[in-house]
Amino acid sequence: MKRLIIEGQKTLSGTIKIGGAKNSVVALIPAAILSNQRATIYNVPNISDVKNLKNITQYLGSTITFENETITIDNTGLKNKEITSEFSTKLRASYYYMGALLAKFKHVEISLPGGCSIGSRPIDYHLKGFEKMGATIIQDNDRFIIDAKVLHGADIFFDIASVGATINIMLAATLAQGTTHIYNAAMEPEIANVANFLNSMGAKIGGAGTSEIRIEGVNELSNGIVEVIPDRIEAGTYLMIGSLLGKNLIIDGIIKDHLDSVLTKLHEAGANFKVKGCQLIVNKSSHLKPVNVRTLVYPGFPTDLGQPMSTLLTQCEGECLFEETIYENRMRHIKHLCAMGADIKLFDKKAIIRGKTKLKGREVVATDLRAGAAMLVAGMIAEGTTIITNIEHILRGYENIVGKLSEVGASIKLEDI
Ligand code: EPU
Repeated sequence: MKRLIIEGQKTLSGTIKIGGAKNSVVALIPAAILSNQRATIYNVPNISDVKNLKNITQYLGSTITFENETITIDNTGLKNKEITSEFSTKLRASYYYMGALLAKFKHVEISLPGGCSIGSRPIDYHLKGFEKMGATIIQDNDRFIIDAKVLHGADIFFDIASVGATINIMLAATLAQGTTHIYNAAMEPEIANVANFLNSMGAKIGGAGTSEIRIEGVNELSNGIVEVIPDRIEAGTYLMIGSLLGKNLIIDGIIKDHLDSVLTKLHEAGANFKVKGCQLIVNKSSHLKPVNVRTLVYPGFPTDLGQPMSTLLTQCEGECLFEETIYENRMRHIKHLCAMGADIKLFDKKAIIRGKTKLKGREVVATDLRAGAAMLVAGMIAEGTTIITNIEHILRGYENIVGKLSEVGASIKLEDI
């Protein structure tokens, strides 16, 4: 068990380099097992989700190395084995082995995935999609057996544009017989990143990044290569911290388009930043105006930045409405913000945040990954010492967070407890 200790209110200057996107790499590693040969993934962040996926891929018999931000995977020894709960519950993205193993072996045995407890998070769209493609599914408590005599293309329509289901169906469809259409597909940039990787192996995927994806199945996939896109959520988190504490803080290695909704909202609030190519230059804002934030699927304001944004809203002068629309349970950080001095009224998935309030350091809990990011932002601006426990969640998704923030002047350390 570890905890973070932060002395707040330090000015931040210098450069923070953004790493590869967690939500891309967690799909790219399972996708790599579709290659009959080798796959190379560049710009891989060193986060615990990557370590857990590396363990699963190794357990399946592939040879995997991770050095200099590069993963190479050789699938010569790959075998179809059951992925037990010991592996699957370590993270959400273990569910991508469903689509990948189904495509490759037409048979999967796997237990339910883990991940942050931010709502019920069903996987019914994934399963219904596989069934439409000819698979039969037996569920025995947490364990699934998915089998397809023949996996064929299908027309699949999602009620909600789900990131995970879009990627899982895309994985399965690459090696299915015939053509699959996904309608109301999720449009997050991570999906195009995965499609580009699969296409580099010889898959035939068009439309990824739009709401309609067409996948023409092929017989096999060969060598693949991809660079993980920059983590827009990591960049957005540091942008928020910089808007509150920055002095020419440079956030380096972003793709501006991926952050448009976030930049627009921060601009509306009067945040002080400039975009220069692939960099953001951020300064503390003397006066932040109240804004309303509603999380939405891409290209809307990302749910993964809603919680850290809610901490920033406590520093806006006036009343802000913050609404989470994707998950039922992404407000558990609010009580910890209030304990630090925030003035927030919570109504289920909506919060009215009144600012500007002084935050005071105290012991708080990272109840999930992005709640942890919200606590981190709070600790950075609070007076005195903030101790964040349960930070294993944060380490799953933010690469070298202590090193990156210390280098620009933060007082933050990691302690074993
Ligand atoms: N949904 C269903 N049925 C399904 C799939 C989804 O009802 O079969 C619902 C979910 O319950 C949720 C909504 O659809 O209300 C959207 O869920 P989605 O499937 O898009 O989420 P996910 O694939 O499970 C990924 C990221 C999340 C991120 C969301 C939205 C990974 C491993 N996780 O989750 O990341 O919040 O997309 O962008 O890629 C995080 O990084 O903190 C995180 C939670």
